[in-house]
Amino acid sequence: MQTTDKPRTYRVKSFGCQMNVYDGERMAEMLAEDGLSPAPEGEDADLVVLNTCHIREKAAEKVYSDIGRLKREDGSSPLIAVAGCVAQAEGEEIMARAPSVRMVVGPQAYHRLPAMVRDAADGRRSTDTDMPAETKFDALPARRKSGPTAFLTVQEGCDKFCTYCVVPYTRGAEASRPFADLVAEAERLVAGGAREITLLGQNVNAWTGEDAKGRGVGLEGLVAALAEMPDLARIRYTTSHPNDMTDALIAAHGEIAKLMPYLHLPVQSGSDRVLGAMNRSHTVDSYLALLDRFRAARPDIALSGDFIVGFPGETEAEFGETLKLVDAVGYAQAFSFKYSPRPGTPAATMDGQVPRQVMDERLQRLQAAINRDQLAFNQASTGRTCEVLVERRGKLPGQWLGKSPWLQSVFFEGEAAIGDIVTVELAEAGPNSLRGRLLERALV
Ligand code: 5AD
Ligand code: SF4
Repeated sequence: MQTTDKPRTYRVKSFGCQMNVYDGERMAEMLAEDGLSPAPEGEDADLVVLNTCHIREKAAEKVYSDIGRLKREDGSSPLIAVAGCVAQAEGEEIMARAPSVRMVVGPQAYHRLPAMVRDAADGRRSTDTDMPAETKFDALPARRKSGPTAFLTVQEGCDKFCTYCVVPYTRGAEASRPFADLVAEAERLVAGGAREITLLGQNVNAWTGEDAKGRGVGLEGLVAALAEMPDLARIRYTTSHPNDMTDALIAAHGEIAKLMPYLHLPVQSGSDRVLGAMNRSHTVDSYLALLDRFRAARPDIALSGDFIVGFPGETEAEFGETLKLVDAVGYAQAFSFKYSPRPGTPAATMDGQVPRQVMDERLQRLQAAINRDQLAFNQASTGRTCEVLVERRGKLPGQWLGKSPWLQSVFFEGEAAIGDIVTVELAEAGPNSLRGRLLERALV
């Protein structure tokens, strides 16, 4: 048994989705509450948490290589905790293969991390990948500080079982956090400096709860309650599933000014046959009809999506239908991935696995179409005046970087501060950002 001094400094490295970023922040807050300090930039930490992602290929390999890289010149290692979805899916194997890993903790169990760290300092290795009925959120410390933009996990897990996806296995069944807890957490984030809150969930639009008056509400009810907070300027939510979209949430986009005109609604493929094989339980037409309803409620809404190319059996003609869908929608932003067989998912053993070169080539064509539309969307924004929430300094002196309501990165020069909402004229567009001209610094 190898005992160590109690760690004094920590570093949390999060990979993958925004939910992991949120979890990583909460783990950091817990460790800080337990007396540890964040390791200064460029210095070794006594404790390193690798908060991993399992959604696509080479996730586990990446974890092993990260673990290897943490080895110091004298052969020692920091205390290593592997957290997140790789921990959930492959925890036992990691423990067996990587002796320097002292803790494996799944996404539903990380409230137990401080106790596991104390055990690790005493030389005990531990694994906790339980999915307990009681929620970890109740056990986490209150949030105190926030940047201008903050994440708030409102819903976790997924019951959809798309045939390619590991999330239902690693994150468990769909569960909504209670309304009152979320309002309280949002209040603390706003008191700590947040001007924008992004509500997070694997199926965020499946969130349901009871509002302060005991009425059953969907996500629109939560958004409406948060919009009442005077110091909160912007609300966003991600990621949604087409089948959980409600009339009330669509209407909220036309009724609640603080709800930003941006919707991330993954579709994955433009072929109904492929969508069927993916178990998406929506069609191309039903997806397009849904987007039309959003556009009717909020005509300037910016649309975003996710795509998978090379799903087993995908033909060239079916891929062509995806390109056609992209043309029809005109996305402001979209994310596209090569299909990656995930162990334990139905698609991993389907016939017709698509060769790598074919996937590479399809991905390139899809990304070219998406980049074209992204640039077109940004170009169409030039000449517009809009509000930008300042998030950080830019690379050049006097330069600031923030986001437009449509989630575009906008940089500009002039007098401003982080957390300001300034009025900017969008002057010049690139595929990934816009240059703005500062018109007015809002005093807030
Ligand atoms: N292979 C490739 N992409 C995947 N995604 C989820 N699972 C896989 C997989 N096995 C993509 C989907 C999803 C996004 C978060 O990741 O597009 O919307
Ligand atoms: Fe995965 Fe499908 Fe659930 Fe999204 S809806 S998390 S893609 S199973």
